[in-house]
Amino acid sequence: MKPTELKNDIYWVGAVDWAVRDFHGYETPRGTSYNNYLILDNDPTLIDTVKHDFADTTIKNIKTLIEPSKIKHVVINHIENDHATSIDRIMALAPKATVYMTERARKALDRFFDMSGWKVKIVKNGESLNIGKRTLLFLETPMLHWPDSMVTYVKEDKVLFSQDAFGQHIASSARFDDEFVTCASMWELEDAVWDYYANILMPFGQLIKAKIGEIVKAGLEIEMIAPDHGIIWRKDPGKIIQMYLDMAAGKATQSVTIIYDTMWQSTEAMTQPLARGVNDEGLDCKVIKLRATPQSVAAKEFWKSRGTLIGSPTLNNLTFPTIAQFLANLRGLRPKNRLVGAFGSFGWGGGAVKEIYDEAKKLGLAVFEPGLQVLYRPSLEDEARCYEFGRAFATKVKEYHATF
Ligand code: FEO
Repeated sequence: MKPTELKNDIYWVGAVDWAVRDFHGYETPRGTSYNNYLILDNDPTLIDTVKHDFADTTIKNIKTLIEPSKIKHVVINHIENDHATSIDRIMALAPKATVYMTERARKALDRFFDMSGWKVKIVKNGESLNIGKRTLLFLETPMLHWPDSMVTYVKEDKVLFSQDAFGQHIASSARFDDEFVTCASMWELEDAVWDYYANILMPFGQLIKAKIGEIVKAGLEIEMIAPDHGIIWRKDPGKIIQMYLDMAAGKATQSVTIIYDTMWQSTEAMTQPLARGVNDEGLDCKVIKLRATPQSVAAKEFWKSRGTLIGSPTLNNLTFPTIAQFLANLRGLRPKNRLVGAFGSFGWGGGAVKEIYDEAKKLGLAVFEPGLQVLYRPSLEDEARCYEFGRAFATKVKEYHATF
């Protein structure tokens, strides 16, 4: 994609990765983009780089706007590989540039590159840099989502370069929110935000709330949010800020997700009457067969719904491996304010339902007990029990949801 002007003399010069489906083990069914930005001021300034595979793309984009050797400053908001691993290529073309980053970023980037020949300036929270007609303000955002992270605010243009925060894994020819909702939809954009937040930022809700509070307190006016992935928020940046505040506060939809796997379709057979029961209590129900669905999508759907029924057959006295992986993923993501119920078929000893509840309790999640187990294959009576269990769970979800 060619450079795109965000504001007068501020350009997106990044790359769209239409093909990536495995993003360090996190599935990205929509692809992604690596966004970096060039500000053409008295001192031309590059904000972030891109994943190393796309170095040629961003260099080509930069060259359409300026001879790279004229870049005076390179700001590294975040050193993760998808954003900082083209910096060696950039510095080879702009050897006189000064690189701005946090101390923790320097210590980390030092492990990837020989930086001995680079001019590096360590910046601290609240420091500024004048680049001509504009002043950049650096705000450290440690653990959002890595220790090195910071964001950069351009006072004159009221643009926040937010690195991963407020981003989404979307590959699109649209650069801005208003363009994307025309060629796709607001639902898809919001869904991608939920996905990104659930899989990357969920553990950091309290930090997110605090950092947004700091920005509000500092009185920074924000007209545009330009993240390092996906769509740039220019029509309604307040929308994504409110979405983040809501998600950080544990917002969910009053709905149920059923996430399951199955060996011989017995646990699967339970999902139909369960979903009918949920529906008959007036709640929307999404059913996800985990083996056929990316774990990242399951994590997002878990996070979107107030209640989730997790279903697993018992294998060697434990949960099925895909369900065990899902529970392990949740352990790292540390979700809050969600209700979990468990179900599954077993042949002799059982164990999966208990393990699901044990894991949910370790996470501090609310649980709907006892769970529902059927021996081998659900009979007609078992199907009726499943239906009633779905209804009862939905009723509990409504009660629980009303407490938020
Ligand atoms: Fe997009 Fe934390 O990297």
